[in-house]
Amino acid sequence: MTSPDHGTPVDVTLVGGGMICHDQLLPSLYHLQRLGLVRDLTVCSRTAGTVRALAEAEGIRSAFPGHSFQPVPDYTRNPDAKDPDGYRQVIDRMEPRQVVFLATPDALHYDMARYALQANQHVLCVKPLVQTCQHAVEIEQLAREKGLFVGIEYHKRFDRRALLARREYRDGRYGEFRMGEARMIESWYYRHSNFQNWFTCDAYDAFTYVGCHYVDQVNFITGLRPVNVSVIGIKGTFPNGNEGFLWATGRVIFENGGVLNVINGLGYPDDGAGTNDQGITLFCDDGKRGAVIKHNDQFRGVEYGFVKPAGDGALFRYVNPDYLKLVPWMGDGLKPVGYGYESIEALVQAAIRVNRAGGEEDSEAALSGRQGAIEAIDAKGLIATPANSWMNELVTEAARHSVLNGGVAVDIQYEPQPQVCVPL
Ligand SMILES: NC(=O)c1ccc[n+]([C@@H]2O[C@H](COP(=O)([O-])OP(=O)(O)OC[C@H]3O[C@@H](n4cnc5c(N)ncnc54)[C@H](O)[C@@H]3O)[C@@H](O)[C@H]2O)c1
Repeated sequence: MTSPDHGTPVDVTLVGGGMICHDQLLPSLYHLQRLGLVRDLTVCSRTAGTVRALAEAEGIRSAFPGHSFQPVPDYTRNPDAKDPDGYRQVIDRMEPRQVVFLATPDALHYDMARYALQANQHVLCVKPLVQTCQHAVEIEQLAREKGLFVGIEYHKRFDRRALLARREYRDGRYGEFRMGEARMIESWYYRHSNFQNWFTCDAYDAFTYVGCHYVDQVNFITGLRPVNVSVIGIKGTFPNGNEGFLWATGRVIFENGGVLNVINGLGYPDDGAGTNDQGITLFCDDGKRGAVIKHNDQFRGVEYGFVKPAGDGALFRYVNPDYLKLVPWMGDGLKPVGYGYESIEALVQAAIRVNRAGGEEDSEAALSGRQGAIEAIDAKGLIATPANSWMNELVTEAARHSVLNGGVAVDIQYEPQPQVCVPL
């Protein structure tokens, strides 16, 4: 173990069990268990069937021989069990200052995060943390009072190209951001997934789902805050008949007047080499010269054609080894590599670092030690926390108002307090 954050390992309760848990969170947490950062792992979902599918996923089982998790509901005892509140009993049983990792649909994050914090647990959460700035501020205050860490999983921040661009932008190598465009078009087949139950017009849209990654990335690289958002959505129908904004385009104006246009959708062809389409271009200048930051986040230079297709049947793919792939290593099975893994590692390490700063105690001194460690993580700005990234909630809030009102432009103000200014 080479990590400077190696302290007492934490128990982790992962709440959700869907796609992101399969693709990123569980493989990463199993590997952290191997490395001694994670102790006991529980996965809790609404239905026993979801937990079972995750537990029995062959790709994960063979990559992590000997690893398993405590399933809730326990599908071995009742394969048809359903319990949307099961996470509460699991959290109630946890020792203090362990980790609850939320990977449920966005609308559930606020209640679940509050419940976990009140039960004295650190909270890690897939993006976005919550759906309004007010809720983000509440979560931040509650966590700060209790000396608990809240981290939000914006894994694109850990992509080497974003880290490099951040460093160089802040060294003044590009001048100032002026105009940019980004796109993230996810696969068409997502329409057939569980998304059809929560990606509905009243709660969601394609910009809110993935546009936020690139808005966050502009802020991560440049430090500029968004001040105006407008989003136009195109409605479509999911196979189950629910309506969603399956395509959306957003325009975000930043505080220096720089403008980012983003297009999003659930529509990348299933037979495309992709398996999605994504990237960002930022044009900048210093008044004397133009500059550009251009990231092709889809085609990373790897093309594989197969004689033996994988489960998805594809015979040719662009492969992205930078996000998360399972590769051979010196240990048993396979290990996860890429920014998807590094992001989870950084989040778990942060919770351990906060615990280490306070020792095992409940004293005032221990609390202020933990609070100091949290402030240092906030200030570093690499991991998204409520304190350093609530502008993302402002953007989501503004975007939701805009998309439901025909693309009206919505201002964001920061003084005297951060808020979305809904047009009358
Ligand atoms: N790029 C990213 O950062 C990224 C990518 C995918 C998803 N996400 C986020 O992750 C979250 C989940 O996405 P997903 O793709 O895994 O969706 P999904 O629909 O595949 O999974 C959501 C899971 O939550 C479970 N769930 C619902 N209510 C629950 C409850 N009360 N208790 C326990 N479990 C419950 C569902 O059963 C389902 O298995 C969303 O917030 C999404 O925005 C982020």
